[in-house]
Amino acid sequence: MNQIIAPSLLSADFGNLAQDIQMVNQSKADWFHVDIMDGNFVPNLSIGFPTLKVIAKLAQKPLDIHLMIVNPDNYIERFCKEGNAFCLTVHYEACTHLHRTLQHIKSLGVKAGIALNPHTPVSLLEDILPEADLILLMSVNPGFGGQKFIPQTLQKIQKLKNMIHQQHLSTLIEIDGGVGVNNYRDIITAGGDVLVCGNSVFSSPNPPDTIRLLKE
Ligand code: DX5
Ligand code: ZN
Repeated sequence: MNQIIAPSLLSADFGNLAQDIQMVNQSKADWFHVDIMDGNFVPNLSIGFPTLKVIAKLAQKPLDIHLMIVNPDNYIERFCKEGNAFCLTVHYEACTHLHRTLQHIKSLGVKAGIALNPHTPVSLLEDILPEADLILLMSVNPGFGGQKFIPQTLQKIQKLKNMIHQQHLSTLIEIDGGVGVNNYRDIITAGGDVLVCGNSVFSSPNPPDTIRLLKE
């Protein structure tokens, strides 16, 4: 198993953000997961470009940026350039011309991801799957950290893994929401490749040790 661990900065201490970023830099984590919320697509607001630029400057690992915003097309260039995205993920539910949006992201040399809300079936991805580098399955309703993992996600992971195999693709499956030491094995067994971990890492007594455990 070679799962990618992506701590979600949404659960970091924003009063000591540089310190928490440094902790992730020095840990066994692979990526930084950065959640962008617009108060419209989801009932919460998170960070904007000033904070994202600070993160991009301090982070020494790839930035996995998850856009929970309507009209993501308006900001793709800025997230890729100012935000130094390694992978930029947009929501299926927020894109009218998803194919065009993914092409735009990839034309900027950035990996393109599609996120699905818990109610959106993976079967809808059949025709667009070859265009995506990563599929993010929300395992909670998006908008907040610290929620409980929705168990039906495990079946969605298995279904999606089969679709990826059938099409001979190497698309990564990322699981976001309620992931931690109690369920990461089930998620990996089902076919999850990237584990987003917010609360389970940052609220644990020893975050670097928790990351190591999730990684190993
Ligand atoms: C929620 C975000 C998640 C969130 C996960 O909408 O997309 O990335 O930070 O937090 P936890 O791991 O605490 O559920
Ligand atoms: Zn996220």
